[in-house]
Amino acid sequence: MSQINKIGVIGAGNMGSGIAQKMAQEGVNVVMVDIKEEFVKRGLETIKGLLQEGVERKIFKPEQVEATLARITGTTDFAAVADADLVVEAVFEDKKVKADLFQSLDKICSDKTILATNTSSFYVREFAEQTSRPDRFVGLHYFFHPAKNRLLEVIPHADTSNDTLEKSLLVAKLHGKTAIVVKDAPGFAVNRFFVPFLNEAARMLEENVANIATIEEAAKQAFKIGMGPFELMNVTGIPIAVHASTTLGNELGPFYATADILKVQMDKNELWNLEGDVDESRIAAVVDRFYGVCFGVAAALVDEGVASIEDTDRGAKIGLRWIMGPFEIMNKIGVARTHAAVEAITQKYPDFKMPEILAKQNALGRPFDFKFVDLEIKDEIATITLNRPEAMNALNETVVAQLDERFTEAENHPAVKAIIFQGAGKAFVAGADIKYFIDKIKTDQISDIVEFTRRGHELFLKIENSTKLTIALLDGLALGGGSELAMTCQAIVATPAGSMGFTETGIGIFPGLGGMLRTARMVGPDLAKYYMFTGATITAQDAHALGIVAKLVAPSDVEAAIQELVSEGKPEKYRKREIPEKFKPFSVACNRENVSRLFSGEVPQGVPEDLAARISKFIGFKAPIALKISNEIIDQQVGKSMEEAVEIELGRLNDIFSTADALEGLSSVGRRRPEFKGA
Ligand SMILES: NC(=O)c1ccc[n+]([C@@H]2O[C@H](COP(=O)([O-])OP(=O)(O)OC[C@H]3O[C@@H](n4cnc5c(N)ncnc54)[C@H](O)[C@@H]3O)[C@@H](O)[C@H]2O)c1
Repeated sequence: MSQINKIGVIGAGNMGSGIAQKMAQEGVNVVMVDIKEEFVKRGLETIKGLLQEGVERKIFKPEQVEATLARITGTTDFAAVADADLVVEAVFEDKKVKADLFQSLDKICSDKTILATNTSSFYVREFAEQTSRPDRFVGLHYFFHPAKNRLLEVIPHADTSNDTLEKSLLVAKLHGKTAIVVKDAPGFAVNRFFVPFLNEAARMLEENVANIATIEEAAKQAFKIGMGPFELMNVTGIPIAVHASTTLGNELGPFYATADILKVQMDKNELWNLEGDVDESRIAAVVDRFYGVCFGVAAALVDEGVASIEDTDRGAKIGLRWIMGPFEIMNKIGVARTHAAVEAITQKYPDFKMPEILAKQNALGRPFDFKFVDLEIKDEIATITLNRPEAMNALNETVVAQLDERFTEAENHPAVKAIIFQGAGKAFVAGADIKYFIDKIKTDQISDIVEFTRRGHELFLKIENSTKLTIALLDGLALGGGSELAMTCQAIVATPAGSMGFTETGIGIFPGLGGMLRTARMVGPDLAKYYMFTGATITAQDAHALGIVAKLVAPSDVEAAIQELVSEGKPEKYRKREIPEKFKPFSVACNRENVSRLFSGEVPQGVPEDLAARISKFIGFKAPIALKISNEIIDQQVGKSMEEAVEIELGRLNDIFSTADALEGLSSVGRRRPEFKGA
């Protein structure tokens, strides 16, 4: 796969400047083009302003802002994108403007350049047809604000080549986007159900089902969102809702057509007045109507193959920041209730038919199943993707069970030589679902945690001992269980964005899936203790220096690195290795004598003073029992077989999960610093 070195963005308005900003923030060189110097300047000023805000809110350091800005070139010269690998168009939502632009870009740009449109309401194919390169044409639909909202709908039209789709997904990854692949259909995935949600709110108002305040309240309760549809329209603009619903209505029929009251409000050029009393007696009816419309449409778009149920949920959660996706809510309220609500909608709007998947699921009488782990086999390589980016691919019972199924399938496939494990979105795997542990502790079911962990260990041993070459692709953050999954693989290929860390002792537990064991086998027990006790990040560069990562490459060289590993054969994972000088003080700080010192609140000896002080400070924030048990486990595991060592870990789970500190640590995640009592 060729490198992505340069990207062009056409249009320096709200979207174009945001897209350029995000690309540059993530290290991609970008050229931003607009028709007039003043528009380019305005776009650059907007970017500067937002980055400066980021400095004030301590999200960026001033030098990061400088480096980001240095990656953006603003110009009115279209020839500047001639050699770009990809050009994204974000100009006015006007068919003729866009069509003319693509005709001229097609002439200007080199053969390799992929052209992309960020249109919200036209078909991607309509613009692809304007060019001589429909195979190198794709839709990339961003969400406002593109530097902040992680969702990206990637829309291949019928003639988009596989190579173009793959490169588009790589570009998405390069600039930190979570991509969902969506068919070239009206409203794509998210706007297809989101716009009817706004429109239905207006219709309910028009029909006097309830007043604005009641409809707002019902929407907030139904979808657990902070802003109802009217407030959202006030923020994003009523004309956008009118424009989007008009397009849907024209393409898909009267059910989607714009409510008259919406057009009237747009013509009045006034915002919605949100004041008023909530009429509790009307809430249930409004909620049902919202559910009927949104879920009916969500099911319809899946029926039509526009997106999968998982991607539809992802679109809602990442793009719209809903807490749950439509299908998750359907499961929660029950498929029968969903079916009844949609049935009512089909009666009200005769052109809207009951989606088949909903009818089928209702007949089955059980919730929808979600697929969180995907398997793709291409040539001799099987790729297993943990696909739950909305939860940073965290492991839970379902994910581990599906991982096991996909791995078994890949392993049993005779043509497969190597099995790659990767995470969707920006992270590899950020640990395990904390809520699962909390629920089990609170309901006195720690034995379930032990069983879950045992199954995890069994799977990890199968991955480690596989007859195929198992490779983790560490191109993002790995924490806890994610680091353990990566280290279980026979080899790790990392990009500079990859990192690992064992944060467990900071939340009252210990790494339970062989993290201590495998780190100790690779780099020795003392250095392993340093990483377990401090939770220090192991960057991809450090992991490479330590021989934990086999190959460290740029994102576009990953495929080549994998091929190289396959041709080299299985690496000797637990070979004896030289620890580079840089890491030796960390090992010394956590040798047997120093661990005793650290545990009794003293500073370690034989290491530079500032390091000793830093380690003592870090360890002071950790749960004492978790530290003590980790220390014992690492010592006891030395010289044992893998299976025996695993049993040692499993044997201490009950001890750790029954401590008050475990509950305190787990409950504090993402909220506050835990207060450990050593009990
Ligand atoms: N705003 C959103 O929330 C949103 C979300 C997703 C997609 N989109 C789509 O993104 C696109 C841009 O929207 P926006 O909100 O940024 O609009 P905008 O009006 O803020 O910016 C458009 C920019 O394009 C420039 N422009 C117009 N014609 C041009 C041409 N021929 N060559 C170069 N530059 C040209 C304009 O000067 C302007 O700076 C639209 O297609 C819109 O549908 C918008």
